[in-house]
Amino acid sequence: MKMYFPTTCKVLMILCVLVSSSRALEADAENVPCDITIQDSSNLTLNCSRRNIDEIPEKWPERINSVDKDGHVLITFFNNTISNVSQVPAVPGKRVAISFKSNEIVDIEDDAFSNIEGLVYLDLSNNYISGEVLRSEIFQGRYKNGTYGNIALETLNLGHNDIHSLDRYLFQYTPNLTRLYLNNNPIEILDHVTILALASATNLQVLDLAKTDIDNIPLDAFKGLTKLQQIDLSDNRFVTVPESLSLVGASLKYLTFNNNPIAELNDDSFVGLTNLIELEVGENDYLDEVKRSTFSPLKNLRVLHLCHNRNLRYISHNAFRGLKDKWTLKEVYLDDNYLSELSTDLMPWNKLEILGMTGNNWLCNCDLANIVTKQEAGTKFQIGEIPYCAAPMRLSGAYITNITLSYCPTLDSTSAVNKSRGFTLSNLKPKHVLYSILGVALVACLGMLLGLLVNAMKSCYNNKIRSQPIRYININSDTSYA
Ligand SMILES: *[C@@H]1O[C@H](CO)[C@@H](O)[C@H](O)[C@H]1NC(C)=O
Ligand SMILES: *[C@@H]1O[C@H](CO)[C@@H](O)[C@H](O)[C@H]1NC(C)=O
Ligand SMILES: *[C@@H]1O[C@H](CO)[C@@H](O)[C@H](O)[C@H]1NC(C)=O
Ligand SMILES: *[C@@H]1O[C@H](CO)[C@@H](O)[C@H](O)[C@H]1NC(C)=O
Ligand SMILES: *[C@@H]1O[C@H](CO)[C@@H](O)[C@H](O)[C@H]1NC(C)=O
Ligand SMILES: *[C@@H]1O[C@H](CO)[C@@H](O)[C@H](O)[C@H]1NC(C)=O
Ligand SMILES: *[C@@H]1O[C@H](CO)[C@@H](O)[C@H](O)[C@H]1NC(C)=O
Ligand SMILES: *[C@@H]1O[C@H](CO)[C@@H](O)[C@H](O)[C@H]1NC(C)=O
Repeated sequence: MKMYFPTTCKVLMILCVLVSSSRALEADAENVPCDITIQDSSNLTLNCSRRNIDEIPEKWPERINSVDKDGHVLITFFNNTISNVSQVPAVPGKRVAISFKSNEIVDIEDDAFSNIEGLVYLDLSNNYISGEVLRSEIFQGRYKNGTYGNIALETLNLGHNDIHSLDRYLFQYTPNLTRLYLNNNPIEILDHVTILALASATNLQVLDLAKTDIDNIPLDAFKGLTKLQQIDLSDNRFVTVPESLSLVGASLKYLTFNNNPIAELNDDSFVGLTNLIELEVGENDYLDEVKRSTFSPLKNLRVLHLCHNRNLRYISHNAFRGLKDKWTLKEVYLDDNYLSELSTDLMPWNKLEILGMTGNNWLCNCDLANIVTKQEAGTKFQIGEIPYCAAPMRLSGAYITNITLSYCPTLDSTSAVNKSRGFTLSNLKPKHVLYSILGVALVACLGMLLGLLVNAMKSCYNNKIRSQPIRYININSDTSYA
């Protein structure tokens, strides 16, 4: 035992040294200033992410001043533990972006950003900010000559916070605000003051209201937003596309409307959206029908995403009514719905550039073959995005571009052998066969009734009308219904 004692002691000492030195390293790490990356004198990044910072520093590292006065500066405090945004020290540069994403912010001081003349981008997302904290005073500019100036802010991200309502004067000092993200907040109802706040942001181009639990947008919310180009209303409780969108129809170009409880799209859905370029309607689990004239107002649409609506089984052949003469659509995505058939005249298929049809239950019938082959839809699929047939059984699993249905009328005009065009059962759609059978049955019944009647009359008035020949339909010789 005694022999080992000194060694044990040494080991212990070494361990002690190691532990204390690693402690020292940790302490150092906490004091390490943020990383500065200087791309060139016109582009500087100050990375303060993930450094356990819990308050705004009083001053920036000296090297931040190496940026030009016209330069771009990005400062990020992503994923720290800041809870109170106090006044941020001045930052040089013409366009300054600051991110406080994923902190623990519950409060913001008055004048917090008034030192940063070039602040154009502010990310406050993923914090605990409530509507009460968002007062107009936090965005005040410099106090000059008895009044507060404006700040240059263009993009404000307030997503993933705890906002129910906005102060009506919130955007008083941010006249250049163009992009506002309010997604993932418990707004529920766009109340009077919130609407006044939104309506005051007259330069707004992008508005994100996704996942805010709203089910309605009052008409006056969009009054005055004459520049609004893009809106996201996904993951809300709308049962119809809000009518108020038509107020911004002159400017709106991009509409995203995913995951809402709408049951159908119809000719009221997109009224007035004449300048829409791109429409996305996806993941709407209750949507089962797209009715006639649904897309008719969209006279400038280029891209349509109608995907992942897992109960969408029917698109009216008149859905694009009135658009076919001045066709503007280039890309149509119908992937991952519950469709089995499409009408051949739904759209001028050969005018598309990209068509997506994967993930449906396609019934590979003559109509689909016509769309894919004759109307060249089969040439618009992207690589690796060829849809499969689900039915009929013998074609199940085949690419819809692979099928050749020899019995389809007028389809194989290019084939060398002119197929017999005589009558075959497979020529008929199930519906037609049913009608034919019903028709024949009806004629047969009528004939029998007539026959019975005639027989009855014969026996009743046998003597009186014997001289007059009676003609009645012979159902066996009548072939016009076959
Ligand atoms: C600044 O540099 C970053 C790379 O560090 C680059 O991603 C960014 O686009 C540059 N910005 C400008 C305005 O040059
Ligand atoms: C910023 O610093 C953190 C922590 O050192 C690091 O994980 C992250 O990748 C850095 N980000 C950038 C954009 O350099
Ligand atoms: C922030 O960092 C912590 C560890 O410090 C991590 O657990 C957490 O997931 C990070 N949050 C985000 C949003 O990245
Ligand atoms: C944030 O800081 C200001 C000024 O120091 C103080 O008045 C305010 O009470 C603080 N807020 C919270 C929630 O600690
Ligand atoms: C300050 O206000 C006074 C009077 O209201 C005006 O004459 C002066 O031009 C203003 N100065 C600035 C810099 O706006
Ligand atoms: C708003 O933008 C215009 C045009 O870019 C600019 O002249 C003006 O200074 C900006 N306003 C503020 C308060 O920065
Ligand atoms: C498509 O046709 C080719 C050639 O006839 C065949 O090799 C391939 O297996 C078919 N694929 C499907 C999925 O139908
Ligand atoms: C097939 O027959 C039709 C008339 O039944 C005719 O108009 C067409 O030209 C024929 N096509 C070929 C390739 O022979």
